[in-house]
Amino acid sequence: MTATFFSQLQERIPNEVMTTLIDGVLGVETELRAQVQSDIRMVQDIGEHTLEAGGKRLRPALVMLSAQATGLPYLADRCVKLGACLEMIHMATLVHDDVIDGASTRRGRATAGRVFGDTASILAGDVLLAKAMRILAVDGDLAIIRMTSDGVVEMAEGEVLELQFRNEWTMPEEDYLRVLRMKTAAYVEICCRTGAMVAGADEETTDLLGTFGHHLGMAFQIIDDLLDYTGDSQKTGKPLGTDYREGCMTLPLMRLRPHLSEAENERFARQFGEDPSTEEVTALIQLMHERGALAEARAVATEHEQKAMAALAALPATPQRELLSCVTEFVSGRDQ
Ligand code: IPE
Ligand code: IPE
Ligand code: MG
Ligand code: MG
Repeated sequence: MTATFFSQLQERIPNEVMTTLIDGVLGVETELRAQVQSDIRMVQDIGEHTLEAGGKRLRPALVMLSAQATGLPYLADRCVKLGACLEMIHMATLVHDDVIDGASTRRGRATAGRVFGDTASILAGDVLLAKAMRILAVDGDLAIIRMTSDGVVEMAEGEVLELQFRNEWTMPEEDYLRVLRMKTAAYVEICCRTGAMVAGADEETTDLLGTFGHHLGMAFQIIDDLLDYTGDSQKTGKPLGTDYREGCMTLPLMRLRPHLSEAENERFARQFGEDPSTEEVTALIQLMHERGALAEARAVATEHEQKAMAALAALPATPQRELLSCVTEFVSGRDQ
């Protein structure tokens, strides 16, 4: 999937900027491979299973592109190490998230929980997290350590907040947006800030890249939630309507609620998180199309995309800035 994601971008930016990015991402891949080695066989197996399933490697790419977008000189090797660290935290989060969500597939493969069991997966996720913390300590930048630690706290708390609203049909949109900020956008923001900080950027530039990351993260998660209802499950690697089946309230469903008749509302609220049939999930998705709920959710994502673009516009015009805007467009148009 990594190759697909970046080669799609490569068609747009066929120059040395793209080559540098690909080199960096390959460096991250090598670092990740080294990091998942362990004397404990199951820890290594789970690490490799998660790694080999691929992923877009969006977070390390954002670290590198943000460093480059400052226009300042920076140590590429630090970006590779910190990019790998941030991807490992992401990987650990996904392993844990799949246990929480009871998910069977991720990135088109069986989840670690399904293959190795939930308990081993939770522990192996903890190992990944601890190894990521070690990379941060070796790098030694206190501001980045503090920011990333806060980000991990926020992500975990965001997952818990989401859990508190599980199976709650009437979850308010304000709380949904808070969950998004905490579990996804804050972390994407941190990846961008990390790149800026490695390059020693001033506060204004770091904040601009942070704002960009925040809005990109919000758009990204809203699209993820849309893809849950509209995506091609072959590409997303997850069955359609998983959020509805799991009782996870997201924007498309939230925007459908006011457009449902009383009877429809009762019917879909009753089955929410209660193992609905595929026919019922298909009927629900059909209504989301017909009543404009998907278009409404898409419009909220577009607003964030525009704000992300506006933050970029305030940065110096560089090919890397162009690449970040391509990433933003790609996130909006993505199907995986
Ligand atoms: C999935 O993130 C989890 C979310 C924050 C929505 P990605 O879609 O970036 O996952 P991979 O790494 O590409 O699989
Ligand atoms: C992924 O969240 C985990 C975090 C963002 C912390 P979701 O549960 O919404 O994402 P998928 O659909 O499993 O990737
Ligand atoms: Mg999940
Ligand atoms: Mg989840």
